[in-house]
Amino acid sequence: MKKAVIFDLDGVITDTARYHYLAWKRLAEGEGVHFDEAANEHLKGIDRMGSLDLILASSPRSYTADEKLALATQKNEHYKELIATMSPADLLPGAVQALIDCRAAGLRIGLASVSRNAFTVLASLGITDKFDYVVDAATIAQGKPDPEIFLAAATALGVAPEDCFGVEDAVAGVASIKSAGMYAVGVGDPQVLRQADVVIPSLAQFRLADYLAA
Ligand code: G6P
Ligand code: MG
Repeated sequence: MKKAVIFDLDGVITDTARYHYLAWKRLAEGEGVHFDEAANEHLKGIDRMGSLDLILASSPRSYTADEKLALATQKNEHYKELIATMSPADLLPGAVQALIDCRAAGLRIGLASVSRNAFTVLASLGITDKFDYVVDAATIAQGKPDPEIFLAAATALGVAPEDCFGVEDAVAGVASIKSAGMYAVGVGDPQVLRQADVVIPSLAQFRLADYLAA
């Protein structure tokens, strides 16, 4: 029986993936780089500087470390403007019920987002107290698909990786869960999240009983 669940945030619990996309698109176009939804798919779950590097790889010019930092800060300021009005109304369908079901089943509940804005977003959504442990992205050296963030959550929750399952919307996130040795619930398109053990369209289709004994 599983003893812990570790959720991703962006694109699973709330649709901040849309805001990240808009903020990256404005930055990319300002640098003369074409950016669309398909390109954005590769950035889901990737940390801020890693995402910037992927976008700038298509730029005709090169950038110094200081220029990159300035661009990342600019994107984050725009992103923070976009998320400023978030409220519990921005919780995706089924998210709160999934958290309630996990709590009722006695699971330990963690959050593993590489977003440095995760604490702010959780507070705006009003669900901070639903988690036993939230990883501070600033303490993670290797972003997804490295397993570090899911393993850090499992350690803090005091549960062995094989007794955890992770919930993710990103290809890199599912890869992170699998290389941590956990069962992976993908949220999204099964054609995209091929490495997941099971894929559901959204948390409205979250069926805890199916994952507990997996
Ligand atoms: C999540 C999102 C990514 C985002 C990353 C860093 O993983 O899926 O799109 O780039 O967090 O977010 P941050 O808020 O730290 O820029
Ligand atoms: Mg995500």
